Amino acid sequence: MSNSHEQVGAGSPGAEIPDPLDAAAVSAAVDRALADIAAADTLDALKAVRIAHTGEKSALSLANRGIGALAKDQKAAAGKNIGPARGRINAALAARTLELEAERDARILVEEAVDVTAAPRRRRMGARHPLSTLQERVSDIFVGMGWEIAEGPELESEWFNFDALNFQPDHPAREMQDTFFVEPPSAHLVLRTHTSPVQVRSMLERELPIYVLCPGKVFRTDELDATHTPVFHQFEGLAIDKGLTMADLVGTLEHFTRQLFGAEAKVRLRPNYFPFTEPSAELDIWHPGAKGGPQWIEWGGCGMVNPNVLRAAGIDPEVYSGFAFGMGIERALMFRNEVSDMHDMIEGDVRFSQHFGMEI
Ligand code: PHE
Repeated sequence: MSNSHEQVGAGSPGAEIPDPLDAAAVSAAVDRALADIAAADTLDALKAVRIAHTGEKSALSLANRGIGALAKDQKAAAGKNIGPARGRINAALAARTLELEAERDARILVEEAVDVTAAPRRRRMGARHPLSTLQERVSDIFVGMGWEIAEGPELESEWFNFDALNFQPDHPAREMQDTFFVEPPSAHLVLRTHTSPVQVRSMLERELPIYVLCPGKVFRTDELDATHTPVFHQFEGLAIDKGLTMADLVGTLEHFTRQLFGAEAKVRLRPNYFPFTEPSAELDIWHPGAKGGPQWIEWGGCGMVNPNVLRAAGIDPEVYSGFAFGMGIERALMFRNEVSDMHDMIEGDVRFSQHFGMEI
């Protein structure tokens, strides 16, 4: 470009105006113009050359204008001298324009060529994680029964995680759950080991009666292996009302399991111990679609809320009673969807999630 400008300078307004009758001078102006046209290597450069050699201030335009001042008998000769000269320049400009346009078009064809045989770049669709969709499905079943969803913090105070749930300070049950204690010890914070602290939070925050489902992440100091992971999910159910009994607990669980596992699903309770429920039970479900054929599968814990827990939350156990249950979501995914290795659930390989389809 800068090169072209220099060449344009040779024929630009600074150049001497030829005498319209001087054939040699006019011819020299034409030669300068033709040289500049030939040297213009882009359409932009050619545009500058066109202005310099054919514009109003170009040597030949000014010479042409000078014809008017000539004597009558000289005008025709001057016209014959300058007219064809300008014609040659215009013809050269037109020809060079065609050449440069052809060059530009050829270049664009190469630069913007589309390789129709190239392998397409596919953008892979993501997929929702089956733990999320299962958790939502569980929540939907309870919302369908008129329950509310409650949440609590994952970094929980020891009081909510243990004390308010009737775990005595030196109670061996505190060791039952391998806890991540968080520094400094004086803050008495833990990563919650279960979703049961949300029971107490709900009782303190909500109006009675209470029917809440609390899904969420929980933490235990387990090594990651095929059936354990230190971070997993549970959902907690809590109902507090006047006159609730074990029959309400069983009825609720039966309805819920039928929704999730089919009409033939059943519930079985086996006596167990939890500090925060009395009586307490281990919950088994009859899973009609289990891989090895219909069978009982151990799934979680449940029971009637211990009066001490009601009292810790300021609820009078003489007036109100309640039931609670807690189940693992990873565990449900394992037996409901035949996932045999926990690693698959936590590695985050989208192919694992895609396998479950686009359940929303
Ligand atoms: N929190 C208990 C657990 O994590 C389960 C449970 C919840 C038991 C509610 C009884 C009532 O093992």
